[in-house]
Amino acid sequence: MDISYIINELGEDRELYFNAVAPPIMQTSNFRVGTVAALKELFDDEYSGYLYSRGLNPTVEILRKKLAALDGAEDCLVFNSGAAATFAAVLANVGAGDHIVSVERPYTWSARMFDVVLPRFGVTTTYIDGTQIENFERAILPNTRVIYLESPNSWEFKLQDLRAVAELARAENIITIVDNSYCTSLLQRPIEMGIDIAMQTATKYIGGHSDALGGVLTGSGAMMKKIFDSEYLNIGSGIQPFNAWLLLRGLRTMPARLERIAATTRQVTEFLKGHPRVERVLFPFDETFPQYELATRQMQGACGLLSFYVRATEMGQIVRLCESLRHIMMAVSWGGHESLILPRCASLDPVQFDPSNDEHRMLRLYTGLEDAGYLIADLEQAFLKAW
Ligand SMILES: Cc1ncc(COP(=O)(O)O)c(C=O)c1O
Repeated sequence: MDISYIINELGEDRELYFNAVAPPIMQTSNFRVGTVAALKELFDDEYSGYLYSRGLNPTVEILRKKLAALDGAEDCLVFNSGAAATFAAVLANVGAGDHIVSVERPYTWSARMFDVVLPRFGVTTTYIDGTQIENFERAILPNTRVIYLESPNSWEFKLQDLRAVAELARAENIITIVDNSYCTSLLQRPIEMGIDIAMQTATKYIGGHSDALGGVLTGSGAMMKKIFDSEYLNIGSGIQPFNAWLLLRGLRTMPARLERIAATTRQVTEFLKGHPRVERVLFPFDETFPQYELATRQMQGACGLLSFYVRATEMGQIVRLCESLRHIMMAVSWGGHESLILPRCASLDPVQFDPSNDEHRMLRLYTGLEDAGYLIADLEQAFLKAW
């Protein structure tokens, strides 16, 4: 299906709402039901129609159809955050005594789920270096139910060979879940590579304006219904109609924004690679990236996130660098209009800073929609002040 068609037309029954180009926000908690027989049908299967907005809602429905199609998936569920989507996908596929294999250092709240929440219910997790397929083979146990992936992850951009992991998992009857937030459906299509569930935070590129949270799961119709009937309805973490509308609005411009951001990121990467205070830059589509071959094989592009290591001898240089930026803001997240920086050493006490530890000298940069020259000039003046 054509991306332009999906984004502009799919799922939009404009004649139902006065041919308005923008869809209405169906800000309703419940829906009138005409007959007792219809009510029974909805009680039997809430996935079959509109009953109550903790379940299905027409504004959310438009978004679901578009996001499923963009991923080449049968179906999609949208949650009120990416963390909620991840939680529902994992919870739906494990039970007491089960085992999970996860890539090491997944997103903070995914790790918190594996380390703190699931052990309370007897679910254990083995972390592995997902860059080598043999590590998955070695970690699988008879009670492994889920393989959890994040490709690329969001600091070092480590990749997993999604086709190879999917093939291995299928043979062992294990469900694969991948966090596809770095790429979005526009730059990587995990479902088409055999992955069972693709998750992405919609808070980043889909929303695109740093004003709404959301999370997406795509997969088979049966898998989405299984999650809907249990975790989605039970936790009540489905997206609200107004936020779904904001995400629909963000989606309209997503291809153009990603194209612009990718071009800016390339220029900023070149600037950083040539800067004397920068030791090394990590960006999946840069030829120096350790998994460049796999990145270009399974991703259609890389976008706004890059990391770099500075030649700092003391933490003060990194602190001054970040605090001297005039336009690039220090903040978590990414995917909005505004460029952001995050120093890894923010989690350290200054006395813990060790310049021989690469990670302590690492910063993550997100390039937003500003001009490349504007961002490069900002970085340049901050470097001058920092050392
Ligand atoms: C890689 C990754 N996955 C998942 C999430 C969670 O998404 P949300 O913030 O929408 O809950 C984030 C948020 O930063 C993330 O960076």
